[in-house]
Amino acid sequence: MGSMPSTPAVGRSKAAGLFVTFEGPEGSGKTTQIRLLAAWLSQRGADVLLAREPGGTRISDGVRGLLLNPAHIEMRPETEILLFSAARAQLVGEVIQPHLARGGVVLCDRFADSTLAYQGYGRQLDLGVLRQITAFATGSLTPDLTICLDLPIREGLRRKQSGDQGEWNRFEREQLEFHERVRAGFLALASAEPARWLVVDAQQPVEEIHAEIQRRVEGWLR
Ligand code: TYD
Repeated sequence: MGSMPSTPAVGRSKAAGLFVTFEGPEGSGKTTQIRLLAAWLSQRGADVLLAREPGGTRISDGVRGLLLNPAHIEMRPETEILLFSAARAQLVGEVIQPHLARGGVVLCDRFADSTLAYQGYGRQLDLGVLRQITAFATGSLTPDLTICLDLPIREGLRRKQSGDQGEWNRFEREQLEFHERVRAGFLALASAEPARWLVVDAQQPVEEIHAEIQRRVEGWLR
């Protein structure tokens, strides 16, 4: 048997840019806050790129359709994590890394922490395995700052119900207990790494949430 070639570590080093992710349970208002932050950063001259997961490239958008389709009730949890990771690998390589390398700011609506919260705490897959798969998919790219918009599950689902026109996706249809585990997961991840996370009470008025986020991001701009 021939010897296996040694595989070099595939860590892609993050250049000058700033990588901020937004996380939280359903209906926490991430989209509104990302837009406000993007506008504020752009006014200050930053080259801002918005992305959302799963999706953001032609290939990742195709995978998004597979993942969210409410008809796909037979999807295995293992399939789910691999599809999220496949979509993420493409987004990181094609969009996020090149923008960071140019010194830009990337604001991403959900990233790897959603996998730990939803597939790890929610579906109860092994967190160590999820971290390994995620590191492989992202070349160990980690956000500089992660903002968790936190709110009670019932309130988030109520907001979704009153705002959404369309059919609920496969995750929104999960039991309350699933969503409670996801929320607890985000809070556990945040308290394990307080330097990277900012947890914001998403029940405050939109402007107050934005001000809190602005104060934290300002520190990064100096
Ligand atoms: P989306 O409609 O984009 O919801 P949201 O506005 O809440 O972000 O659907 C994405 C869904 O996929 C959402 O319910 C969270 C879930 N998800 C995971 O389960 N794992 C992941 O790694 C990611 C990125 C999302």
